[in-house]
Amino acid sequence: MTKRYYITTPIYYVNGAPHIGHAYTTIAADVLARWKRLAGYDVFFLTGTDEHGQKVEKAAAEAGLDPQSFTDRVAADFRDMAARMGASNDDFIRTTEPRHRHACSVLWQRLVERGEIYLGEYQGWYAVRDEAFYNESELVPGPDGTRLAPSGAPVEWVREPSYFFRLSAWQDRMLAFYAENPDFILPLSRRNELLSFVRTGLSDLSISRASFRWGIPVPGDPAHVMYVWLDALANYITAAGFPDEADPRWAFWPADLHLVGKEIARFHALYWPAFLMAAGLAPPKRVFAHGWWTVEGEKMSKSLGNVIDPRDLLARFGLDPVRYFLLREVPFGNDGDFSRRALITRMNVELANDLGNLAQRSLSLIARHCAATLPALPKSPTDADNTLLSAAAALPRDLAGALDRLAFSEALDEIWKIVRAANAYIDHQAPWALRRTDPPRMAAVLRVLADVLRIIATVLSPFMPESMARMLDQLGVPPSARDLAALAVPLPAGTPLPPPQAVFPRFAEPA
Ligand code: MSP
Repeated sequence: MTKRYYITTPIYYVNGAPHIGHAYTTIAADVLARWKRLAGYDVFFLTGTDEHGQKVEKAAAEAGLDPQSFTDRVAADFRDMAARMGASNDDFIRTTEPRHRHACSVLWQRLVERGEIYLGEYQGWYAVRDEAFYNESELVPGPDGTRLAPSGAPVEWVREPSYFFRLSAWQDRMLAFYAENPDFILPLSRRNELLSFVRTGLSDLSISRASFRWGIPVPGDPAHVMYVWLDALANYITAAGFPDEADPRWAFWPADLHLVGKEIARFHALYWPAFLMAAGLAPPKRVFAHGWWTVEGEKMSKSLGNVIDPRDLLARFGLDPVRYFLLREVPFGNDGDFSRRALITRMNVELANDLGNLAQRSLSLIARHCAATLPALPKSPTDADNTLLSAAAALPRDLAGALDRLAFSEALDEIWKIVRAANAYIDHQAPWALRRTDPPRMAAVLRVLADVLRIIATVLSPFMPESMARMLDQLGVPPSARDLAALAVPLPAGTPLPPPQAVFPRFAEPA
C-alpha cells in the first residue's frame, strides 16, 4: 500500500511582503516533506496565499490598486519566496482561483443542508489585522484608554447582518475529539490553552461579512461574502480536489499535518475541525503550532524597520545555512531570537568546522592517496570502526522519531553527535600517519569515514538540500541512491570520486 503524507503551511496574507516568519514555516514544512519522501512516502506538500478579506482589501486600496491586481502582484512575490527558500511544494494555492471559489461554495452549501448555518446579526469587536472577532472579555487595555485585541491589534465595533456557524453546539463533541486524539494539537502548552478556551464555552461564530465586497459571495445571498477564515481554511481541501472525491489527490485527505504559527492555532485546531465534521468530512490528523521569532531581541515590525526579507539573508549567508540555523537555533514550538552573531557562529563552528572540515579532510585524503576512488570496506573492522558505523547507521531511525515529534533541533543535535564522533575518529585513527605505516588500514579508515559521511549527508539533505547534494556528488553516491532505503546498499569499492571542494566556506565578516 502506498504510504501517503499530506503536509501544509498556512496560506499567507498578501497584505505585505514575505518576511522571515513566513519563510520559517515554509522551511520547516519543506524539511518534513523532503524527509518523508526520503523515507518512501508519496508526499503532497501545499503552500499558498490567502487573498480575500478586509485586511487585503485595505492594503490594495493603500497601494492604489484594485484588489485583484494587487493580490496578483503580492502572490507572485510569495511564490518567488517559496522557490528561493528551496521549498519543494507540490502545489501553490491562491484563494482567488476558481477551483477554490467552487470548493468553498460547496462546503458552505453542505453546512447549510446539514442545518449548521443560520442568518442573524453580528454585534461585537473585530480586529482587521487579525481578521478575528473578539469577546468583550478578551480585550486588553491599550494606550489612552483604548482597548486592543489580545494580539495588540486595534479593534472596531461591528454591527451587521451575518450568517453564523453553530459552533456552540460543537463544544462537547470537540472536547470528546481532543480527548480521543491527545496529539491532535501540539505542543502540549497549545493544547492546554485550547482546551481551557473550549471549556469556558463556545459562542456561535460569525462566518460572513456584509460591509465590504472582497471575498467569496455567500451562495444564494450575494450581499454577504464568506468570512475570510472559513474561505482560507478550506484551501486545504480545495487543493486535495474537493468536492471531487474521484480526484486522485482526495486520497491525501485528511491532511497529516497543518503546520502553523501559535497565533493561529485556534483557527486550525478548533474552527477547522468543527467546520469539517459539521460538513461530514474528516478532520486533519494533527496541527502543530510553532513559536515566534524576534530579531536581535526586538519584535519584528514595520515601524521599527527591522523586518527581515528572507531574500536578503540568502544573498548574504546562502540558503542552506539559513535553513539550518532557523531549525537548529530554537526548539520548534518555542519562541526564539534571530541574531546575525548566532547565525555566523553556527555557520563557522558547526557547518564549516565540524562538518565541512570533516568532509574536506576525508575526501582530500581519498583523492590524494586512494587514486580518487572509493576504498574497499575494512576486511576486519576494529571496535572503533564498528562503534562509529553502527552509531551512524542508527541515525535514520532515531531521526524518524524526533521528526515525528517535530523536534528539528533535537534531530540536528543527534546528527552532530555523529559528526563529532567522526571527527574524534579521524583524529584518533590519523589516516595521514597510516599512509606510511599501514596503507591498507588507511584505506579502511577512509572508507569508514566515507560511509559515515554518506549517512550524514543523506539524513541532512532535507535540511540542506543544495549543499548535501554536492556532498553526495563528491562521495560518488548516484542520484538514484540518495534515499533512506539506499543506505542499506554499500557503494562498490573503486567508485571514482570527483575532486573535493569545500561545501561550507567560513563566513568572514566584511571588514
Ligand atoms: N492567512 C492567515 C493564515 C491562514 S491559514 C488557513 C495568516 N497569514 S499570515 O501571513 O499572517 O502568516 C501567518 C504565519 O506566518 C504564521 O502562522 C507563522 O507561520 C508565520 N509568522 C508570521 N510572523 C512570524 C514571526 N515573527 N515568527 C514566526 N512565524 C511567524 O495568518
